[in-house]
Amino acid sequence: MNSSELFNRALQVMPGGVSSPVRRFLPNPFYASRAKGSKILTEDGLWLIDYCLAYGPLIFGHAPDFLIEEIFQQIREGSVYGTPHKSEVELAEEVVRSVPSVSMVRFVNSGGEAAMSALRVARAFTGRDKIVKFDGCYHGAVDPLLVDGVGTGTHACSGGIPRSILDGTIVLPFNDVASLSRIDEGVAAVIVEPVMGNVGLVPPDRDFLRALREACNSSGALLIFDEVITGFRISKGGAQQAYGVYPDLTILGKILGGGFPIGAFGGKREIMEMVAPCGCVYNAGTFNGNPVTMVAGLTVLRHLNQGVYSRLSELTERLCSGFEEILEDAGIPSHVNRLGSLFTIFFSEVPVRDKDTARRSRPEVFSALHRQLLENGVYFPPSQFECCFTSVAHSADDLNATLEKFSVAVEKIRRDGGVKCS
Ligand SMILES: Cc1ncc(COP(=O)(O)O)c(C=O)c1O
Repeated sequence: MNSSELFNRALQVMPGGVSSPVRRFLPNPFYASRAKGSKILTEDGLWLIDYCLAYGPLIFGHAPDFLIEEIFQQIREGSVYGTPHKSEVELAEEVVRSVPSVSMVRFVNSGGEAAMSALRVARAFTGRDKIVKFDGCYHGAVDPLLVDGVGTGTHACSGGIPRSILDGTIVLPFNDVASLSRIDEGVAAVIVEPVMGNVGLVPPDRDFLRALREACNSSGALLIFDEVITGFRISKGGAQQAYGVYPDLTILGKILGGGFPIGAFGGKREIMEMVAPCGCVYNAGTFNGNPVTMVAGLTVLRHLNQGVYSRLSELTERLCSGFEEILEDAGIPSHVNRLGSLFTIFFSEVPVRDKDTARRSRPEVFSALHRQLLENGVYFPPSQFECCFTSVAHSADDLNATLEKFSVAVEKIRRDGGVKCS
């Protein structure tokens, strides 16, 4: 059964035919049948070089050999205990060793769950209610954070969010130091992706994170870094280590679970001791600290070292320079944002430094390129507003093949007149 047939079946029994909205694209998403290293095989028999990589967890690529036996071993010994166990202690210790501002951590099952709990802790710790977030930052499917648009344009990004919840969240523009004066003494927490990944990749101005830290210090609000994407990806200590700005609470996920569902929130001891059963802030979960996830996460984290980050940066730089050259030769206005093993190609004249500038990227160029690449064996995330990821499994041959196919795709788009060039 091919992808189109599977999608038609899915439409009958799953809303929109998918388990998460971004996975749906036209005419139908491809269905994965298996994956290994840098590649994913579709139900249509096509191997794709994968730069979506499940939206971030797979820093070593799909199903790395060193992980497989460890996971099977844990499954043989039990997949969930409902009791404390050794590997969760070891993973917590590894997180505390790696992430500079984290002294204690609680494991949950998704990044969104971690964000929700971190807000609750911040409210209890400060005795305040208001939350500040930044336009275009995504923190999971969490009511008070599914809000975007600055000033009078603030709106819920989903149906079903009560007005009262919307009113408790202030949205500010990313990378805009002047607007930080809105962080006042009623604010419990300021939550930010230190490197924005959910409008495509947008690194922070160095001054911005520092100014944010200062604004939180003066107002008494807690600073929460959402490092679900950047944690263990920008560096082993995440964006906070790379930029030298340290939050009060950190949200983690993706890579931390070694390819299994996870979220975590952690921070300073006196704040984390608010969490039950130590303190009054409730958090619980049947699958919290799941042993299979803990073993997978621990195994992956133990393989992360400086060599991994240097290699990823080098290969991503090579790839992005190649994209730039091809686009420039074709006369297609573009900006390729990149940092470490993250990148996004924006099709616009202006540099992208926030949600507004990201939105100026031309969707028709992105869609045409996405389709062309997919037909020729290269898989970028289906939305312009997602990061692309590289992994340790991406080889020089993968890069060469990608650049070759990219060049052919760009030329075809240009010839077909799908792109007006400068
Ligand atoms: C920065 C960021 N925070 C939080 C989340 C939510 O994580 P999860 O999908 O595990 O709930 C995501 C998901 O992509 C994310 O990119």
